[in-house]
Amino acid sequence: MSVYMRREFAKLVIKFLRSGNKEVTQSGRTEALEDILTANIKYRLVTKKTRLQDPQFYISVSDVKETIPGLNQTLFSDNQAISQELHPLPIDYADETNGRINFFIKPCYLCNIILKKVLSEGDTYGYHGIIKDKQTILVEYSSPNIAKPFHAGHLRSAIIGNFISNLYEAVGHKVIRINYLGDWGTQYGLLAQGFNKYGNKEDLNKDPMKHLYMVYVKINEDVAKEQQNSGPDKHEKGETHRKSLEIFRNMEQASEDLQLWKHFRDISIEKYREVYERLNIKFTDYEGESMYSKKSLELIEELKQRDLLHIDDTTGKGYIDIEDEKDNIKAVVQKSDGSTLYLTRDIAAVLDRHKRYNFDRTHYVVEDGQDLHFKMLKGILQKLNVPWIQRYGDQIHIRFGRISNLSTRKGKAVFLDDILNEAKERIIKTIHNKQTSKEVESTETVADVLGVSSIIIQDLKEKRLNTYKFSWDKVLSFKGDSGIVLQYAHARLCSLIEQCGCDIHSIDFDTKYLTEPEAIQLILHIASYEDTVDKCLTSLEACHLVHYLFSLSKFISVAHRNLKVKDQPKEIAQARLQVFKCAKTTLANGMTLLGITPLDKM
Ligand code: ARG
Repeated sequence: MSVYMRREFAKLVIKFLRSGNKEVTQSGRTEALEDILTANIKYRLVTKKTRLQDPQFYISVSDVKETIPGLNQTLFSDNQAISQELHPLPIDYADETNGRINFFIKPCYLCNIILKKVLSEGDTYGYHGIIKDKQTILVEYSSPNIAKPFHAGHLRSAIIGNFISNLYEAVGHKVIRINYLGDWGTQYGLLAQGFNKYGNKEDLNKDPMKHLYMVYVKINEDVAKEQQNSGPDKHEKGETHRKSLEIFRNMEQASEDLQLWKHFRDISIEKYREVYERLNIKFTDYEGESMYSKKSLELIEELKQRDLLHIDDTTGKGYIDIEDEKDNIKAVVQKSDGSTLYLTRDIAAVLDRHKRYNFDRTHYVVEDGQDLHFKMLKGILQKLNVPWIQRYGDQIHIRFGRISNLSTRKGKAVFLDDILNEAKERIIKTIHNKQTSKEVESTETVADVLGVSSIIIQDLKEKRLNTYKFSWDKVLSFKGDSGIVLQYAHARLCSLIEQCGCDIHSIDFDTKYLTEPEAIQLILHIASYEDTVDKCLTSLEACHLVHYLFSLSKFISVAHRNLKVKDQPKEIAQARLQVFKCAKTTLANGMTLLGITPLDKM
């Protein structure tokens, strides 16, 4: 039950007691109860599942230190006068056992306030009053590498990072969304060579992703060939590899080379934008590792000055000593030839971002495999006495497990749009097989949204750290727990509302006409949306919301079957219509938070 509603109930109960029995107030018991209701005590709104025919709801207040003898007499003595004053009385009766008081609430009262709240808050329903202070939070996600495949980890990071950002934004935080492209490092010395040898500007501008990938594959083949021919033990890396180290070092020292890099990044970003848009994913800014090359060289100087940089005698590498809970780690930040590493650039980047955005905290949504990397990042920031790391260090790395088996008809997935196209094509095929006479107007668009919804739900229904095997059949299932099922529930609600034969804009209704358990169960589930949002916020796990939405769609479908709106007496139809409208709002809010566009037609 929502914080707001709990508070409202608490206030009512207190008011009720106050007005009802002066003696109680004088004896101080009301104050005790006020403490109970406002202090850090957990309330639960519970239904008695065993009594589906006659659902009862109560607010359960636990950990009651002081018993209140004769609570019911207190509540209900002189009942007449009180109920007149506070009509309608929300509580049927109270029951007190073992440090717990249950206040049984009249369902129609409960339904009334929940429906009114959802109707008035609309697309902001579920997000009011959850956070105490508004923060600026920087979330970095997706972060693929230029010229290399967009792998399942980049997709999962995109989906999870987008959800976390949406969630923060919905409850009122300011969110900076960053995509940090991998475009720097020794491998890119290789790409520079490859581009001279195999690349051309024309093909690059036509399809930057595919062209750079082709170049990268070819130059890597050269490296492999040279290694094959390198003599009996085949361990020697050849000329191309050696030259790439040199090129990279020069690229880092001399900034004029960065022009080409900026171009690679800019045109890749253009293409990425389109594809991310299909996934409803946006970024405040795109960055590249190359942007931090100069800053990381400066950082090395600073580390030297602060006596934090040590040079390993045997390897010649520069490292910082950091202490983890258990181990001492040598975090290497400089190669023996003086050039920087992935870690060095990450430190330079986060320090720079803090200067620019002044964030309160930051998250990196990155595969679990990079755990050590982020431990080192955190350790170094601690060494540098960065103040914000003390408070939020534990939440820096938002880890997730690997997806295996993500492949398309063309083989192992290389580009993001191949994955999305595959989903779309498969959906179109299924729709064509299913469709009889009623054609959906724009199959293409619908199929694209369905494909994306399915991929998102498949990903977010798992706990972040779970690894899972990707299966197109499961992802695109029209039955069971899938994105398609949620879309279907939403589209059905839209058509019910459209064809109900009532005034759909009227919010004139009386909840006394909602007597069926199916209606009340559904309303109760709607009421717990805010709790689910809160749970996601503390755990940064989307699975709570996904499972909440699956249950919501089940309650909706039961209500759909049992609560007709069309051709019913006006009062009943109006009251039921509001329930369906609120269910639709809640479903749409949840789907939007997950990054899915709810469909009106399917
Ligand atoms: N580009 C990296 C990769 O593909 C992920 C970057 C994660 N973010 C970071 N700030 N290190 O593995």
